[in-house]
Amino acid sequence: MPNNWIVLKFGGTSVSTRAAWENIRGILEMRAQEFPECQVLVVCSAVSKVSDQLDGLLEAAMQERHQEVLDRLRERHQQLADELGVDIGLLDEEFRELERVATGVALTQEWTPRLQARVMSRGEFLSTRLGAAFLGVAWQDVRELLDSEDEPHATPARHYLSARCGYACDETLPGKLSARVVLTQGFVARDPKGDTVLLGRGGSDTSAAYLAARIGARRLEIWTDVRGMYTADPRHVPNARLLRRLDYSEAQELASTGAKVLHPRCLPPVARYGIPLHIFNTGEPRAEGTVIASAATDEGRVKALSTKSRVTLVSLESQKMWQQVGFLADLFGCFREHGLSIDLVATSETNVTVSLDGSEPLEPGALERLEADLTRLGQDEDNRASVRITSGCSSVSLIGNRIRSLLHRLGPALELFEEEQIHLMTQASSDLNLTVVVDSEQAPRLMSSLHALLFSGAEDDPLFGPAWKKPAEKHVETWWERRRGDLLKLGGLPLYVYDKPTLADNVARLQKMTAIKRLYYAIKANPNEDILRFFGSQGVGFECVSPGELHRARELAHSANLLYTPNFASRDDYEAGFQVGAQVTLDSLEPLELWPDLFRGRELFLRLDPGQGKGHHKHVRTAGPQSKFGIAPAQLEQARTMLDELGIKVTGLHSHRGSGILEPEPWSDTALFLADCAERFGGTVRVLDLGGGLGVGERLGDEGLSLLALDEVLTRFSSARPGYELWLEPGRFLVATAGVLLTRVNQVKQKSGKTFVGVETGMNSLIRPALYGAHHEIVNLTRLGEPNAILADVVGPICESADVLGHDRRLPATQSGDVLLIATAGAYGRAMSSHYNLREPAAETLLD
Ligand code: LLP
Repeated sequence: MPNNWIVLKFGGTSVSTRAAWENIRGILEMRAQEFPECQVLVVCSAVSKVSDQLDGLLEAAMQERHQEVLDRLRERHQQLADELGVDIGLLDEEFRELERVATGVALTQEWTPRLQARVMSRGEFLSTRLGAAFLGVAWQDVRELLDSEDEPHATPARHYLSARCGYACDETLPGKLSARVVLTQGFVARDPKGDTVLLGRGGSDTSAAYLAARIGARRLEIWTDVRGMYTADPRHVPNARLLRRLDYSEAQELASTGAKVLHPRCLPPVARYGIPLHIFNTGEPRAEGTVIASAATDEGRVKALSTKSRVTLVSLESQKMWQQVGFLADLFGCFREHGLSIDLVATSETNVTVSLDGSEPLEPGALERLEADLTRLGQDEDNRASVRITSGCSSVSLIGNRIRSLLHRLGPALELFEEEQIHLMTQASSDLNLTVVVDSEQAPRLMSSLHALLFSGAEDDPLFGPAWKKPAEKHVETWWERRRGDLLKLGGLPLYVYDKPTLADNVARLQKMTAIKRLYYAIKANPNEDILRFFGSQGVGFECVSPGELHRARELAHSANLLYTPNFASRDDYEAGFQVGAQVTLDSLEPLELWPDLFRGRELFLRLDPGQGKGHHKHVRTAGPQSKFGIAPAQLEQARTMLDELGIKVTGLHSHRGSGILEPEPWSDTALFLADCAERFGGTVRVLDLGGGLGVGERLGDEGLSLLALDEVLTRFSSARPGYELWLEPGRFLVATAGVLLTRVNQVKQKSGKTFVGVETGMNSLIRPALYGAHHEIVNLTRLGEPNAILADVVGPICESADVLGHDRRLPATQSGDVLLIATAGAYGRAMSSHYNLREPAAETLLD
């Protein structure tokens, strides 16, 4: 068959404006010059956001609100048609179809996946009709080119919304397409009955790959908003390098373990026919990209790292599985029963641990039902089975051919895992990946340490292209970039500088959370007096852990609400809490025995241990059997007797799992845990204090915890378990991003090929890098914007090797006297500083 077709695929953002379509025109001209003998099949998605609107159309029709959605869709396409100078009349038939289906649904109140597919497919029809008219090329209904396959046992939803197509090469296909350039739809196909079906998530890439295989294309090009696949997700690892070449199985592995550039389903069709798949960036049409093709060599090496978040682990410990035929089959049957798809598996004689991929939404209650079934399955006469479900994990995978042959070289990489808790490790028998599952908070740091270890020194390796460049428009200016002039005028360095507008913004964002009734600031993060005064003026309460914090809060914010959560405290400590009128939280039963009179007849909160800590480092996880904090749920009965005897009323329960948590689920899990415990107090508990711990991004551009997502899970909790007030007591979230540490460079020293930039202050001002391996961005404020020229460790003047503020940092040519800025230093910076070596820590100032 003559191999003279090339297939190009463009996603939603590439078809949404006139500029985008002009770009496509330019790319087509470029390809026409390069491959004059070729015909081109262009596969397009719907205009950005249109698929989401269409997804909601039938839901709206059920409530007779579909007209609004249709109006919005028409407006959006009218705008694009005007920009393109194309007659909107071209779309009349598509809109009539949408109207017909929506009206039908509104009348019959019946909604089926079949109708949903009909409606959603229109997005691609709308965009391609406009595009073909603008480009003056042939338009083709893709349903004449792609047939889905009937899958036995497929539900209607799967059949219509997540269909699969055969991709055997069809020699008659080129004959059906005579034009030089043909434009068609992604995401859509036709079933054997002739009904319209959709290809599910990532469907347009998959369509393009099917079409490339069926038409026997010479190459497939996926045009997207990044240059290609990288050695790691550049959002986590800014030094990530473009991968110039991958083989199909490596790309498949990378896509399946978390890289989002390609959908894993689009690789098998091109792999079967050996069609090279190129990824290019629509924004830089002439820049090199990644090509995925048959392996050129058989060399074993790690080519990339990938990570997936929202991973849930399910682990069953049972003696029963030892030598029992069919046990695993029964076990996996339980997952099938509850519609749960398994990702990774690790087994031993008495334990099976599997991970669930969080990208598919779970049915409510599915995990609870699974837990009950697995417990039943694992039980025998003598032994109870133990089932553990751990949410909020991430997987980190090392990808590359023949990983096993590299194990001996991964020694230093494996050392990094030493301090992190690894929940699961698997090494695929395909010999393509080594995967570990860790707490989500660990993943970003693990990724960047592993990346530094595995890829530094590969500067000249021809496999790797340029490092990822942040698209300029995506850079959100920080307050300290905006106020650089003010900062450089400040005297008295080293100096912590805090920005009041950022503090105000952080407070406002938290106060906007509708699920939270009261907000307290955990003073320990930063007890600066000006900051406390400001928070007091904003109506924020204070969470204190010592008499010192109580007195400072009372003095600076007379009428503020105070929470008091001391730990292993003395009688005097507790007394101080009652004296200033703070709400006292007891985190042990011992004080009731030691000093019963002090507590008799009072209203108290209890701090409970939810059993599992979370946080960015093991030192900051404050729950679980190894942790000194809180009362174990098993002690609650004993607690109740003691409390009743002393006439103490428990009005609130408290839990704090740890610090620097980036996913919302731990707080909703805490709320559920506390609500279950609250029921044991006969209705006196009205407050559930969910602690602090809200994480912020360590790196520029990292998003940190999403408050929106947190508010959502807590709102869901409150509707399921009404009657409780939820309180939160964050420290870091309120102050971290508002503070920077400014310090001058004393010396720049070269030693044995390494560069050290030595600044005036180090771990005596900021101990977090030394203590937790924490990452703080460091920039040369004096030379902000100058190109990076050196790779250096930024170190302080303290006599310890741990006195490093940042390892391997890229900086402009830096000189003595330059001012360096250490970012995100507002929390646990000055608060944890010391006079070690009798060096004064940095002073502080608050900018209005
Ligand atoms: N509530 C209680 C009971 C706490 O123990 C803590 C912090 C918080 C609230 C506030 O947590 P935050 O929202 O700031 O994460 N020095 C470490 C953090 C230690 C946190 C100790 N307890 C660091 O620099 O990362």
